Amino acid sequence: MTNTLSRLATVAAVPLVWAGTALAQVNPTAESVNEDALLRALQSGEAVGGRASIPDDGAASLISPDNKLWAAMQGDTLQTLSIVAVLGTLAILVLFYLIRGRIRIDGGFSGRKILRFNAIERFAHWMLASTFIVLALTGLNLVIGRTVVLPLLGEGAFGTLTAWGKIAHNYLAWPFMAALIMVFLLWVIHNIPSKLDLEWIKQGGGLFKKGVHPPARKFNFGQKVVFWSVIVGGAIMSFTGVMLLFPAEAGSATDWQFFQVIHALVAAAMSALILAHIYIGSVGMEGAFDAMGTGEVDENWAKEHHSLWVEDVKDTKARNDAQISPAE
Ligand code: HEM
Repeated sequence: MTNTLSRLATVAAVPLVWAGTALAQVNPTAESVNEDALLRALQSGEAVGGRASIPDDGAASLISPDNKLWAAMQGDTLQTLSIVAVLGTLAILVLFYLIRGRIRIDGGFSGRKILRFNAIERFAHWMLASTFIVLALTGLNLVIGRTVVLPLLGEGAFGTLTAWGKIAHNYLAWPFMAALIMVFLLWVIHNIPSKLDLEWIKQGGGLFKKGVHPPARKFNFGQKVVFWSVIVGGAIMSFTGVMLLFPAEAGSATDWQFFQVIHALVAAAMSALILAHIYIGSVGMEGAFDAMGTGEVDENWAKEHHSLWVEDVKDTKARNDAQISPAE
């Protein structure tokens, strides 16, 4: 937004300087200072521009029909979509909780632990998670802040919050991208689609019925959907975000606007999905948070939700033990 404002300010300054010169020296009725002409051009959807003495030709364009369409999207469409995505998902989660309740470990806690994610995996996850949450909140503030937050906080506090939020948004994008690459490299091998996924889909992931537990390896189908959405969505967010940060690389002003709209739409979709992920990884499912907390989960939880993974872990351990024994 600051970029856009400063761009508009630069662009606006061009005809002003030009107009000032015209007024002072040559022709006070020149078309460049004729507001009626400018307004008429705007109504018919024509582009309104001036002359720029810098190499960026786009800077001479004051208002073009594309800008108007984009500006209208900022005002209405993106705000509505973002609010519906966030509030709609929250409403669905509350409803799901009221109907299904917390998904419990059917066999209760066994007291035996099994390592699910090592320290590097947890570090990558929490770096991705913490940066995403700040990026999502500060980004959402840029889209709906003026409508929703400004009336609550008042101009002073909202201005300070938004200025710091913008700085956080620009800088936290980099550790987010680093974590995205780490998570991809660590977990891609466990997220290749397989026949098991069909069984998981058939049984609705066991999410809707007590006692139903489709077999799964390290990640079930639902988690694969989260993984690939985060990777593909995160990559799109990263690319479009870098284009927004460096407008000179983005091409024309229209290209920049396109990247901005895609950035906001993918952010809304990802935020909705991640809200559901946070719910199921914390209050929604008993025993799930430990996987990313201590890294160790209860064996009964693991057997119910990732039965084939538990067998894989036990087989690997047995093989390792057998390899060690002869040497003793
Ligand atoms: C407070 C917020 C969060 C909590 C409590 C949380 C919790 C968890 C837990 C418990 C797991 C492991 C599930 C298992 O053992 O099978 C997990 C996995 C994962 N998390 Fe998070 N998470 C949070 C935020 C995020 C965010 C913001 C992102 C991405 C932007 C993210 C991306 C992932 C991915 C890709 C996985 C692996 C796939 C999956 O299990 O769905 N998480 N998370």
